[in-house]
Amino acid sequence: MSKHIIHRIVCVSFLTLVLCSCKHGEGEYHGITDKIAAESKNYHGTLSSEVHLEGIETIEITEGGHTFLIPERKGQIKSYACTECHSKPLAQLQSKDGKKAHWDIKLVHANENTMNCTTCHDGSGMDDLISLTGNSIDFNNSYNLCNQCHTKQFEDWTGGAHGKRIGGWAPPRASMTCVNCHNPHEPHFETRWPARFNTQKIKERE
Ligand code: HEC
Ligand code: HEC
Ligand code: HEC
Ligand code: HEC
Repeated sequence: MSKHIIHRIVCVSFLTLVLCSCKHGEGEYHGITDKIAAESKNYHGTLSSEVHLEGIETIEITEGGHTFLIPERKGQIKSYACTECHSKPLAQLQSKDGKKAHWDIKLVHANENTMNCTTCHDGSGMDDLISLTGNSIDFNNSYNLCNQCHTKQFEDWTGGAHGKRIGGWAPPRASMTCVNCHNPHEPHFETRWPARFNTQKIKERE
């Protein structure tokens, strides 16, 4: 091949690249996100997850640039409002015979040097949770308690990679919050065998 032809091929490919790389209009987009944003406009108002959310009280939150719904919690917590009993200091509430009011709560989370009840609950304002720096956190936003120590899972959750959606994939986005799945007092899940395994295989091996 002569130098001249090679030069022409290079020039033509370069030109095509320049011409094609930035073509839009007529259904062409800069990237996949532009395409999704533009084409999903047609579906707004027609496809919705709202029917699946009926009967679930939700609140809207914005975290890490994502706005979505999560279930409301305070209405679900048996012993809320805490101040129905916790209107005076703990020392005055504790009975002399050492009986525990919350005997059913066992803390199996971090080790005892790292965590006790007061890491998350504030004796002087029991109706809210408390951050490590002493700021109050609403029970409805308890994910802000968890994110102090579990930043990675929190970020995955805001993006939708950790956790689970409620309803369908159509907007509005509604996601379960941390405490819908993890008991804050005993958050670890035991490793389990899959629910189904091949019994036939076991018979064959016997
Ligand atoms: C029906 C009354 C009642 C309600 C409602 C109640 N508590 Fe208590 N709580 C007590 C009593 C009594 C004690 C003191 C005895 C004890 O230590 O168990 C106590 C103790 C505690 C302690 C200290 C436990 C310890 O071992 O040091 C924490 C933390 C606590 N409560 C959190 C809460 C939170 C959070 C709520 C609301 C979600 C709540 N309580 C609602 C009665 C109540
Ligand atoms: C890691 C943080 C954390 C620690 C430590 C912790 N809690 Fe909680 N606790 C929570 C959160 C978050 C909730 C609300 C859960 C929900 O939304 O269902 C809660 C809920 C409760 C409730 C209300 C439960 C109900 O269903 O009525 C009581 C009572 C309570 N905690 C007591 C305690 C006591 C007593 C201790 C220490 C033995 C303790 N907590 C330690 C985070 C914590
Ligand atoms: C003060 C720090 C702190 C806070 C606040 C906290 N955690 Fe933890 N968490 C730990 C530590 C430390 C461990 C034990 C080490 C580990 O497994 O990462 C742990 C363990 C866990 C585990 C078990 C990890 C496993 O390997 O199975 C889960 C799940 C979890 N936490 C969820 C939560 C949730 C949900 C919240 C909020 C309600 C929360 N944590 C709040 C520090 C914290
Ligand atoms: C839909 C339920 C669900 C929600 C919501 C959820 N998790 Fe989890 N999470 C799980 C399951 C299931 C595992 C266990 C995964 C495994 O064992 O492989 C897990 C594992 C974890 C672990 C252990 C480490 C790991 O990644 O395996 C931590 C820590 C944790 N979650 C924190 C959180 C926090 C913080 C939130 C809220 C921001 C949250 N989770 C929301 C279901 C949930």
